[in-house]
Amino acid sequence: MCGIIGYTGQTYLASKIVLDGLERLEYRGYDSAGLAILTNGEISVKRDSGKLRNIREGLESGLPSNHLAIGHTRWATHGRPTQDNAHPHKDNNSRIVLVHNGIIENYLQLKSTLLEKGHKFLSDTDTEIIVHLLAENEKHEASFKDAFFKTLGQLEGAWALSVVHVDYPDTIFIAKKNCPLLIGLTEDEGNFVSSDITAIIKYTRDVVYLEDHQAGMLTPGNLDLFDTKTKTQINYNVERVDWNPVMAEKNGYRHFMLKEIHEQPDVIRNTIGTNTNEEDGSVYLPDINMSNDDLLGIRKIIVVACGTAFYAGLVGKYLVEKLARVSVEMDLASEFRYRDPVLDKDTLVIAVTQSGETADTLAAINLAKERGCKTMAIVNVQGSSIARAVDGNIFIHAGPEIGVASTKAYMAMLVAFELFALYLANLKSTIEVAVAKQLIHELKVIPQKIEEVLKDKEDILKIAQKYTQYKSMLFLGRDLNFPTALEGALKLKEISYIHAEGYAAGEMKHGPIALVDRECPVVAVVTDSPVYEKVVSNIVEARSRDCRVLSIASKGDKEVQGFSDDVIKVPKVMDLLSPLLNVLPLQLFAYYVADLKGADVDQPRNLAKSVTVE
Ligand code: M6R
Repeated sequence: MCGIIGYTGQTYLASKIVLDGLERLEYRGYDSAGLAILTNGEISVKRDSGKLRNIREGLESGLPSNHLAIGHTRWATHGRPTQDNAHPHKDNNSRIVLVHNGIIENYLQLKSTLLEKGHKFLSDTDTEIIVHLLAENEKHEASFKDAFFKTLGQLEGAWALSVVHVDYPDTIFIAKKNCPLLIGLTEDEGNFVSSDITAIIKYTRDVVYLEDHQAGMLTPGNLDLFDTKTKTQINYNVERVDWNPVMAEKNGYRHFMLKEIHEQPDVIRNTIGTNTNEEDGSVYLPDINMSNDDLLGIRKIIVVACGTAFYAGLVGKYLVEKLARVSVEMDLASEFRYRDPVLDKDTLVIAVTQSGETADTLAAINLAKERGCKTMAIVNVQGSSIARAVDGNIFIHAGPEIGVASTKAYMAMLVAFELFALYLANLKSTIEVAVAKQLIHELKVIPQKIEEVLKDKEDILKIAQKYTQYKSMLFLGRDLNFPTALEGALKLKEISYIHAEGYAAGEMKHGPIALVDRECPVVAVVTDSPVYEKVVSNIVEARSRDCRVLSIASKGDKEVQGFSDDVIKVPKVMDLLSPLLNVLPLQLFAYYVADLKGADVDQPRNLAKSVTVE
């Protein structure tokens, strides 16, 4: 959840690279930040609590010239977000310093042994024990490298680590287990370590993704990697990342979230790519890596995901069941991994994830693999842990998503499910060619329809102004747009802090209608669909309890004004594609409400972009 960056080289001022990188990593955690530099045999550490923009000046002032630095932005797990708990952490003799992502599960036990040996702890973190353990082991081992490997063997839990030692002034010691870490290599401008490609993409696109149980040494001209279990040196592949630095900038938008909402037409185009043929209704999935026989043998699909990705999966369930007639179960990844699910070789488990690093989703995939299931991911970050763990992938080409509230990745996940459902349906001959062709045709037109809605976004802003004072809202949708209601409610609550519930409209009478009164507006997705009349009656029931109603309706709907206080119209679209269009006004509504309330849209309180710990 936290972010790591480090640089070793002669070309750049290391501390500047690290501070700039921390700005790009801040979306991974933003309650404190710090950096350590190594100059003339001395380690200097600067760290503080708060957002980077508030503390950056203090962190960079008075730093001597430097060529090696490591930095960290934190999302607190153990210990409050204070200066003492901020990374980097040093040993008592200021010879070793480190930054860490993850959790050390056996830290209490290790800490008590280290306390007996006289180590003085200055923070409440689990991380600090690692630096003391390194110092302790160094006393007994032949080299710091041996002490480093011994220490890794004593830790339980998850880590991405970057460690610096005064006696190795150009080396960053690195290690990974269950937390992402990658190395960026250059020909002669030094080398980088980071938890995330966006922090270093300005300097290099040539990366090495570390695997679990790997550790090594990074110097300006070299990377040595070892398997920590066998202690043998290993070869590695350098991969070329196809993102570019401009993609990770705001490009004049007030917030990343607003920029990412506007990127959605292109994200859809890129995710469809050249993988459909409108003339015969066929779909091509280049990275699915499963034979037709494999796919035809699937008896059950289970989708595992968290948060917004889970709601995208729920749309996927409806699509796959409607089009391909295969039964799909939905599982929150955090539940799946502990509830002993029924799995076999005829089950396909699909992970849906923007980051490809969500700890629960990764654990769910590992469990599915252990049980002999086929596995697939719908994933944005190529090279991520989940993308590498599964049998096959559908990459969603959303580009870097920096806003903590996911928007364009959700949209691209829906596109991926449209493609997958159609692919499977074609294979199983459960769809007529004419319908397949129409679906592809209309899918390709969705970007234009989204652009139409974006052109009228000021109307949504005006509507949002009427909803900022409410403390609670109920989002309703049905069938394919039940997940749209869930996603609309999640967007609103996570960035505006207004309590919001998403409900299947037909379920309202079974409980949530008790919430409805003039203080609790209803936001209803009531676009053209076979369940239109049903949703209308649910809205009318709510409205007779005096609530304000905001409806998302199709252009040309003449009835909707009769049962709504406010209406946002979207272009008409084939029902199967309606979730793509209908979520857009809800994203904008949440954005404007949050912004009008003065909330920090891109970095909402208590959240982090990637949840890489349980
Ligand atoms: O990277 P992932 O897609 O696996 O992340 C899953 C959730 O953590 C994520 O969607 C989260 O719910 C977002 N904050 C929603 O906007």
